[in-house]
Amino acid sequence: MSSVLFTRVVGIAIVLSVTATAIVTAAPADVAMIKSRQEKLRDMGSALKQIDDELKRRSPDWENVIQPNVQILHDRSPFLMKWFPKGSGPEAGAKTYALPAIWQKGDDFAKHARTMVAESQKLEQVFGKKDSGEMRAQVVALGKTCKGCHDSYRSPDYEKDAEQ
Ligand code: HEC
Repeated sequence: MSSVLFTRVVGIAIVLSVTATAIVTAAPADVAMIKSRQEKLRDMGSALKQIDDELKRRSPDWENVIQPNVQILHDRSPFLMKWFPKGSGPEAGAKTYALPAIWQKGDDFAKHARTMVAESQKLEQVFGKKDSGEMRAQVVALGKTCKGCHDSYRSPDYEKDAEQ
């Protein structure tokens, strides 16, 4: 092997190993966080949909269908702010729809999160009345707080990918 070629091959090998190390050391906790928050958010989305679907029935099953889903939304929403630590954005190297604006406009992001928490607490209060009309109105109110945040802080690619 000529020495020039040798230097090039070794040089490439070193570059590759440095890049690989960087990826491995930067990511595990953040990648795990991204995956687990997406899972929890999917559960919340499915909970909201199940409540909405059930309320369309003539006699909704309040105890077995609506109640556990209200619980999911009520119990999980206060934790949303913990699911977006610095470093868990697109730079973590996992597929995420979280936009960098989350960490640039943290106060506004937190405001969206607080509004959602308030509406999900109200959902639990309204649940106590077992009134379909009021419950549906509250599902819509809560859904608006989800969308309000997604419009600014979740990439529109999410909708595109979901359609496929
Ligand atoms: C404060 C902002 C905020 C609020 C409030 C919010 N979300 Fe999200 N949501 C996000 C962000 C950011 C993502 C993208 C996360 C990612 O890809 O890492 C997301 C992703 C999702 C996803 C897609 C998960 C996946 O990748 O499969 C669902 C479903 C979802 N949210 C449902 C909800 C529901 C339902 C509510 C309301 C009850 C809600 N979200 C409230 C910011 C928010």
